[in-house]
Amino acid sequence: MDQRDVAGHYEEIASEYDEHWVYGPNYIPWMSACITEALSISSADRIADIGSGTGLFAREVSRIVHPEQPILCVDPSEAMLRQIDRQSLPGLTPILASAEDIADARTTLPYDELDAVWLKESVHHVADPGATLRGLTQRLAPAGRLLVVMLPATIQYPLFRAALERFEELQPDPAGIAGHMERAGLEARLFHVEHELRLDRDKYISMVRARYMSLLSTFSDSEIEKGIDEMRAAHPEPLLLFPDRFAFVLGVKHGEKR
Ligand SMILES: C[S@@+](CC[C@H](N)C(=O)[O-])C[C@H]1O[C@@H](n2cnc3c(N)ncnc32)[C@H](O)[C@@H]1O
Repeated sequence: MDQRDVAGHYEEIASEYDEHWVYGPNYIPWMSACITEALSISSADRIADIGSGTGLFAREVSRIVHPEQPILCVDPSEAMLRQIDRQSLPGLTPILASAEDIADARTTLPYDELDAVWLKESVHHVADPGATLRGLTQRLAPAGRLLVVMLPATIQYPLFRAALERFEELQPDPAGIAGHMERAGLEARLFHVEHELRLDRDKYISMVRARYMSLLSTFSDSEIEKGIDEMRAAHPEPLLLFPDRFAFVLGVKHGEKR
């Protein structure tokens, strides 16, 4: 997908995004706790969520950590950031910019340096991840941490076959992201976290129809309907159970924490 398609996709789904991603009451607290722990976030840290979307996870991290300074929610989609403003979430500062804008210092941030930064499911939208992760590393304070949360190279979602195949074509490899971090000078580590999703089948089908994953935007309406027929045939059960597995690629910068 080129940048215009990406922007159009998020413009279209922004107002429904939170509804689609709240898989169940435990998903956001669970993921936010994993992010907080992996990044060892403390309340004194200067924190940024890059490709924050509607701030779903930043909001929860803020609740866990009570940061002394707001979490910067950086995203190039005005429509996604508008959801943060709409809910006037305390402790979050929306910033309209891409990961590349921050990496190349085209956008000035309210903090000189950052202590804890994450990109959750946004790195696949970055055109040159090596250059962007190198630039983001330069924005980190000594002992700063950078976390990329992404789906692994293959997923076991109950999607139709063509969607799973296209996912595998498009998804960057987490090991490659770890390599970029190492070349940027970070000490990098790759590990996985997993939880089981339990989703009402009809709700999942409506999420697919609404193209809840950006890769689904690469299919036409008729291809999606055909895919949904395939999903219904493969999954007659009313409740879908499947593992949701995420790769966590953590990079730590050398130096003493302030
Ligand atoms: C799948 S959503 C993830 C949102 C949020 N991190 C989450 O996990 O709910 C991807 C987000 O990346 C943003 N995005 C697209 N291109 C980007 C770029 N070049 N740099 C940073 N974010 C980007 C999109 O606008 C969208 O909000």
